[in-house]
Amino acid sequence: MTLRFDGKRILITGGGGNIGTAIAQRLAREGAWVILTDLAVDRIDRVAQALRDGGGRAWTVSMDVTSPASIAAALDQAEQMTGGPLDGLVAAAGVLKIYDFLDLPKADWDFTLNVNLTGTFLVFQEVGRRMVRSGVKGHIVGISSVSGRSGRPNVVDYAASKAGVISLVRSAALALAPHGITVNAVCPGVVDSDMTRTVHSGRAALKGITVEESLAAMVNTIPLGRIQTPADVADVVAFLLSDDAGYMTGQSLNVCGGLEMD
Ligand SMILES: NC(=O)c1ccc[n+]([C@@H]2O[C@H](COP(=O)([O-])OP(=O)(O)OC[C@H]3O[C@@H](n4cnc5c(N)ncnc54)[C@H](O)[C@@H]3O)[C@@H](O)[C@H]2O)c1
Repeated sequence: MTLRFDGKRILITGGGGNIGTAIAQRLAREGAWVILTDLAVDRIDRVAQALRDGGGRAWTVSMDVTSPASIAAALDQAEQMTGGPLDGLVAAAGVLKIYDFLDLPKADWDFTLNVNLTGTFLVFQEVGRRMVRSGVKGHIVGISSVSGRSGRPNVVDYAASKAGVISLVRSAALALAPHGITVNAVCPGVVDSDMTRTVHSGRAALKGITVEESLAAMVNTIPLGRIQTPADVADVVAFLLSDDAGYMTGQSLNVCGGLEMD
């Protein structure tokens, strides 16, 4: 059987995180040449080593998605290490902090918007430029969230940044469509991850309950009746990176067990 991503160069930002790692594992299993990038180089080094130990092709490069110079240097290095231009990008770097709307400091608002929205824009733009220059009809995928679909009083900055990613995906898709490049996103729901534990430790503290109680109450509201795994997200990201999704662009798909339907 032909592997879907055989020899395709796909770069992941936030590759050391729970979701970025699952995406890297999924893509490597399907033959992709994976370039993991993150601020946390020790984490991506461990993930890449495990992929190589399993017979995959994987490289690591340090990248700060908020810095155009860091992005350009990392992409130069990625092209040099793998011997060619990128075929795909997954922008998974992200941050989240918990504050009530009335207490959210401007500095934290700025920080979240800078990493989650501006960082996604900067990486989309530089990868888009390089795909256009090299004539690659590539696939670009962002990670939004169901938080970007409605209001979130305790993660106001995060929800705004993720709504921004949905808008950015639409604009980038229109700009890059004439070059045959697709741009889409996924909106995960409640993923079994460190980030979700952060959300629920904040919520639990506000409500005077335990983290486990807060998580269980949330899982009760998920129509499919279970928490989402990082692999559930990776499955749909892989689809959007593949030619199976070649006629889709500008879309943000809810991948959330039915939690959000708009
Ligand atoms: N975990 C969830 O429940 C959930 C739900 C919906 C959406 N998401 C989104 O999915 C993406 C991945 O989430 P995760 O759960 O893997 O989070 P995570 O915290 O495990 O991973 C995020 C990664 O981004 C990296 N990062 C942070 N700032 C960076 C920067 N300036 N430059 C480069 N890398 C940076 C971190 O070092 C970390 O490795 C995020 O965009 C997140 O907002 C997560």
